[in-house]
Amino acid sequence: MSTEPWWRRAVVYQVYPRSFADSDGDGIGDIRGILQRLDHIAALGVDAVWLSPVYVSPQVDNGYDISDYQAIDPTFGTLADLDELIEAMHARGLRLVMDLVVNHTSDQHPWFQESRDPASPRRDWYIWRPGRPDPDDPGATLPPNNWSSVFLGSAWELDPVSGEYYLHSFTPQQPDLNWAEPAVRQAVYAMMRWWLDRGVDGFRMDVINLISKPEGLPDAEQGNQLEMVVNDPGLHRYLAEMRREVFDAYPDRTFLTVGEMLAVTPEQAVLATDPARRELDMVFQFEHMDVDHGALGKYDPQPLDLRALKASLARWQEMLAGQGWNSLYLNNHDQPRVVSRWGDDVRYWRESATLLGGVLHLHQGTPFVYQGEEIGMTNYPFARPEDYRDVEAARAYEIATMMGLPEELILGSMARMSRDNARTPMQWDGDAEAGFTTGRSWLPVHQNHLWLNVAAQQDDPHSVLSFYKRLIALRKAEDVITTGSFRLLEPDHERLWAFVRESGDQRLLVVANVSGDPLRLPAGDPFAALDGGRLLIGNYPDGAGDAPGGAEGGAGAEPGVLRPWELRAVYV
Ligand code: NOJ
Repeated sequence: MSTEPWWRRAVVYQVYPRSFADSDGDGIGDIRGILQRLDHIAALGVDAVWLSPVYVSPQVDNGYDISDYQAIDPTFGTLADLDELIEAMHARGLRLVMDLVVNHTSDQHPWFQESRDPASPRRDWYIWRPGRPDPDDPGATLPPNNWSSVFLGSAWELDPVSGEYYLHSFTPQQPDLNWAEPAVRQAVYAMMRWWLDRGVDGFRMDVINLISKPEGLPDAEQGNQLEMVVNDPGLHRYLAEMRREVFDAYPDRTFLTVGEMLAVTPEQAVLATDPARRELDMVFQFEHMDVDHGALGKYDPQPLDLRALKASLARWQEMLAGQGWNSLYLNNHDQPRVVSRWGDDVRYWRESATLLGGVLHLHQGTPFVYQGEEIGMTNYPFARPEDYRDVEAARAYEIATMMGLPEELILGSMARMSRDNARTPMQWDGDAEAGFTTGRSWLPVHQNHLWLNVAAQQDDPHSVLSFYKRLIALRKAEDVITTGSFRLLEPDHERLWAFVRESGDQRLLVVANVSGDPLRLPAGDPFAALDGGRLLIGNYPDGAGDAPGGAEGGAGAEPGVLRPWELRAVYV
């Protein structure tokens, strides 16, 4: 019997429940909506679903601010609905991975409410510190240190009840738990076991590498708390403890654990995912998603330098090979839609959406497909500040305005980078509200749902959807995709993304033209073998491998030339 864990050959689909499917017409997606659309997920051929938070929450950060970990927010349904979802998924051979948000809770969580009283036994469940004297104003205080929150502004909030500050890595409504307090860890582990007992198959752990704070909370050189927190060695102690206390209690089950880690290095990721160390199965890292961030960060987007993107992914492939395990993603609920970001969502929409998905999936690791990615959903044309719903966008707008940046510049950056781009409703069909809701959707539906939708792509063998289904099926059929070594070719080429995967006598060459102009491939090995090789998958209909006469390495193409945004994977 193979001891390889199931998730090594798996593809995971992410559902952002607010925007997936609404069953009751209130304009917000819910669990019964997911149940109604489960056939779509199963038909993709994926193995598991990661469900973004559905727990009770004031929804300041769309559920990433939890006030009860063991109950479902009425917006999304009931615990009985969730139990039904687990059962219905298992009946279809799908596993359910829940979101675990335990770096912080909501400020409405009873734990935090109690903690506000300095005499409470829960005082140390959160991170409280007195302020520093303000040299300019003897009656006032300054925050305990200079850390900024991930969502900008100070990471400290003064609580008038006790006159002390509490730490919040995100909004002030998301106070950080104090993981140094053993009772906090035990409460979290008990809650996790409660979910595993209900049948869930693992957790995606929100910003898990922020849980361990450095002794004494020293100032950060650049003022960014991440500098001080992300590599704190305590993290590995906590993750190993969690493994023992939670997952080891179920020796007959194999879970999936994926830790979201901000600013993580491959070295840290190896420590966290080396199976021998028994911490996590894989991490979500950000290096490749940050390659287009400018000097001012995310909201200072720069044109993509393909060399940086492919070098980053290749580095992670090499560093983790044989030691840890990669997760692979280009989209999720925190990123703008990749076809708009790095593809061409106007002229070569279909080609660039499939190229980006194809290249990613042919790397080694476990791919994550974010809802709507499988049909090539695009960014939304946001124009006015009031169009956004995301708390991060609101904070960025406020701070950029305070800094005096021109309105046009701010709005342009927000339109490109805002997380709301990923959160517009799933486009099921061409009806009003895209078949997402019978009411009025909480975020506007993209106008392009008239033609860009699941129904329109369902029976089209050349659609983005059909391409993703083929891609997902290939992972099950072709061992080299899971186990093969990875070698990047032509690292300095500005338009060509090429690499070789090798396993035993299998040698798979992947070439992709990341541009709207034809691209002549370099001469010599291995490119010369492309046209004579056996095509595994391509994103042009006549080279797709399943189209009539399409079995050769790219019929219809000029030999040695890739067409605009063309991808081919060929055994050579
Ligand atoms: C990462 C989540 O993916 C994001 O949506 C959230 O805002 C932050 N963590 C805070 O929980």
